[in-house]
Amino acid sequence: MYSSNCLKPLLIFPILATLCLLSSTTTSTAQPSTQCSEQFELMITNRSGKNKPKCQKLTTLNAEFGWTILKNKSIDVFFGAWLDNDEGWLAWGVNPGKRPQMIGTRAIIGIKNPNGSLIVNTYNITGGTKLGCQLLPTEFHDNDDVLFSNMKIFTNNTDLVVISATITLPSKYSILDLHHVWQVGDEADGNEPKKHPTALQNVDSTETINLDSGEGHSVGQHRRHLRTVHGILNIVGWGTLLPLGVIVARYFRKFPFESPYWFLVHIYIQTIGYTLGTIGWAIGLVLGHSSRYYTFRIHRILAIFIFTFTSLQMLALRLKPEAKDEYRKYWDMYHHFLGYALLALISVNIFQGIGIFKPDKTWKWAYIGVLGALASITLGFEIYTWVKFLRKKKKDKDTTKQAAGAQGGGGAPSAGGAPGGGGAPSAGGAPGGGGAPGGGGAPHSDDLLSPAGGPP
Ligand code: HEM
Ligand SMILES: *[C@@H]1O[C@H](CO)[C@@H](O)[C@H](O)[C@H]1NC(C)=O
Ligand SMILES: *[C@@H]1O[C@H](CO)[C@@H](O)[C@H](O)[C@H]1NC(C)=O
Ligand SMILES: *[C@@H]1O[C@H](CO)[C@@H](O)[C@H](O)[C@H]1NC(C)=O
Ligand SMILES: *[C@@H]1O[C@H](CO)[C@@H](O)[C@H](O)[C@H]1NC(C)=O
Ligand SMILES: *[C@@H]1O[C@H](CO)[C@@H](O)[C@H](O)[C@H]1NC(C)=O
Repeated sequence: MYSSNCLKPLLIFPILATLCLLSSTTTSTAQPSTQCSEQFELMITNRSGKNKPKCQKLTTLNAEFGWTILKNKSIDVFFGAWLDNDEGWLAWGVNPGKRPQMIGTRAIIGIKNPNGSLIVNTYNITGGTKLGCQLLPTEFHDNDDVLFSNMKIFTNNTDLVVISATITLPSKYSILDLHHVWQVGDEADGNEPKKHPTALQNVDSTETINLDSGEGHSVGQHRRHLRTVHGILNIVGWGTLLPLGVIVARYFRKFPFESPYWFLVHIYIQTIGYTLGTIGWAIGLVLGHSSRYYTFRIHRILAIFIFTFTSLQMLALRLKPEAKDEYRKYWDMYHHFLGYALLALISVNIFQGIGIFKPDKTWKWAYIGVLGALASITLGFEIYTWVKFLRKKKKDKDTTKQAAGAQGGGGAPSAGGAPGGGGAPSAGGAPGGGGAPGGGGAPHSDDLLSPAGGPP
């Protein structure tokens, strides 16, 4: 009876919009800006005499890298980063191992002390360093190891600090596939750098670079892209479509609007939201699994919890008791309560995820925009509901009076609860509360308690 033709655009639209978003981010992340800052270029060109070094902005920590290939596998390298405080360090190094990583890196580290002194030394970074052992300067004499010479550290009265050296690589390194690693920390003690932060940027700061062509394969590149896809799918699926579906169910089922299509639309939106969200969730699992170094525990636990219980909500499609069953009303209460609670949790977890992307603010504002839109829609409907409800009540009263009938109050829900007493999006701790209409305002309490006009 319901013509599903007219609903097809509804089915297609969110998927199209998501695809569109995804492809636009793909193209924008495919070409990272690799241009060095003018200041860095000036500083290293000034230092390197005749030949202008090649230069590349690195993928994280706002760091920059310049180099000139000399003879005999010797390379002049320059590494620059911004040390915003009066204390801090910056490090750059090469790793002879199978992949670019912290442990095993031979590094040159520049330290900025609070008294203004700048020092630079070489360091051998081992497993012990990562576990917290003191990291002190090491000299590399061995012919089999990297030789650093001509080390310098300089700055140009700004917070941009540059370290430079001439390195000579033994045969186990290839300049066409050089594993290099960089890092920035904000605490040091004399010539001892202290542990750096372990935010996403700090653990993604490794790359395998071809010094001939200047092309880098940052290990994180692929992962970064997946992360973006993960973020978009989850914000669209869990964060936008599921709340929209709830709004449809809440306001179009009976009151203030009664539409025969509400159930179909609700199911469509929830199914698409659930599908997109689940793909995003699975990508998140892959991301979490493939990162050996760090886990974001709260984000992960919440995500598993949300997935489990949302799946349970989706099972409602099949396991729902018959409309006439007497425990259907309890089932409805449970379905609604869990639904609102999940919306709140989802919004909390999206903010958790966005926190991981720090310091990129785009995500935060995009999601706050989504929440704001959902909250305004909810608020609009809620106000309309109350206006209509109060009018209806007044009319009912008038007719009752005329009929001199016995019972007052009318059929309208009287369960109390002033407007706003849970009607407004209050459920979530997060701004906008996930746009979730909170646990049943008065006009709906009869929906909750009666074997409502259920599915077709
Ligand atoms: C000063 C002493 C240092 C300490 C105590 C330290 C500690 C750590 C720890 C605990 C992690 C793991 C983060 C996590 O699992 O969440 C890590 C990761 C990392 N660190 Fe360090 N670090 C130090 C110095 C350095 C230096 C000098 C560099 C660069 C030359 C560096 C580069 C990295 C990189 C690239 C990672 C990402 C994961 C990996 O490749 O192992 N660290 N560090
Ligand atoms: C610092 O850099 C600016 C350009 O950014 C340059 O004009 C200036 O001469 C530099 N100063 C020193 C002391 O190197
Ligand atoms: C680099 O800059 C300094 C001062 O900023 C200047 O004295 C020096 O001559 C410059 N060197 C080159 C190679 O341009
Ligand atoms: C290259 O190495 C050879 C011997 O290993 C040495 O004689 C020569 O001076 C080196 N050239 C440069 C530019 O360092
Ligand atoms: C640096 O550390 C590695 C172990 O990671 C060790 O094999 C090597 O001998 C050390 N080099 C120096 C110069 O201490
Ligand atoms: C600055 O402090 C460091 C240690 O914190 C010390 O080694 C260095 O000599 C000091 N430099 C000056 C110019 O006081």
